[in-house]
Amino acid sequence: MEKRVKLKDGSEVLIREMREDDIDRSFAFFTALPEEDRAYLRVDVTKREVLRQRIQEMVAGRTLRLVAVVDDQVVADGSLDLPTHGWTKHVAELRLIVARPFQHKGLGMLMARELYGLAAAIDVEEIIVEFMGPQVGPQNIFKKLGFHQDAVLTDYVKDISGAKQDLVLMRCSLDSLWQKLSDYMTDSDWQRTR
Ligand SMILES: CC(C)(COP(=O)(O)OP(=O)(O)OC[C@H]1O[C@@H](n2cnc3c(N)ncnc32)[C@H](O)[C@@H]1OP(=O)(O)O)[C@@H](O)C(=O)NCCC(=O)NCCS
Repeated sequence: MEKRVKLKDGSEVLIREMREDDIDRSFAFFTALPEEDRAYLRVDVTKREVLRQRIQEMVAGRTLRLVAVVDDQVVADGSLDLPTHGWTKHVAELRLIVARPFQHKGLGMLMARELYGLAAAIDVEEIIVEFMGPQVGPQNIFKKLGFHQDAVLTDYVKDISGAKQDLVLMRCSLDSLWQKLSDYMTDSDWQRTR
């Protein structure tokens, strides 16, 4: 998929599937993130090898990954880790990160909408998102999208400084996600300019 969208400030962004040749753009995006936004990411995305592995997972079909691009630079990265088999084969895991200068402009919601579309096309029924305990702001944003907290594993994961943190699991049915996204896009003034 490839789609040009307008943000709340009127600027244009291209949302498209990530490509194998995006590794340098992706590296530039992740290394420019403030440490605060990187602190709770699951893997060290400032290592090219890690980014290469993520692209391989995408090529192998285990992950669907979208990027938002402005002036040939990645400004947001969103993914769905796909279930392959077993008990949770109807559940996908969503991850989303928007560059600071592009936050609060509706890009997170637009990326979520495109990721929703990808999930709906492959019969995913439910989406989960995992956070570390201190990520209260993003947890609140995902509540707006219809996610609810379903489990907390105390001191289960370590952040990049090695400190143990709670793992917070939030989940949402695909139907609820679509409802919230539709309400959000309809209620917003910005809808009229898109
Ligand atoms: C979570 C994240 C992706 C949201 O992206 P975004 O582009 O800023 O989100 P949007 O502009 O689409 O905002 C959507 C809604 O969330 C709310 N929101 C946005 N930032 C917020 C904040 N810091 N605190 C509280 N609410 C906020 C707004 O109310 C907005 O609704 P509005 O348009 O009615 O004001 C972004 O904050 C981010 O990249 N955070 C760091 C990475 C992370 O924690 N990812 C989540 C775990 S996978």
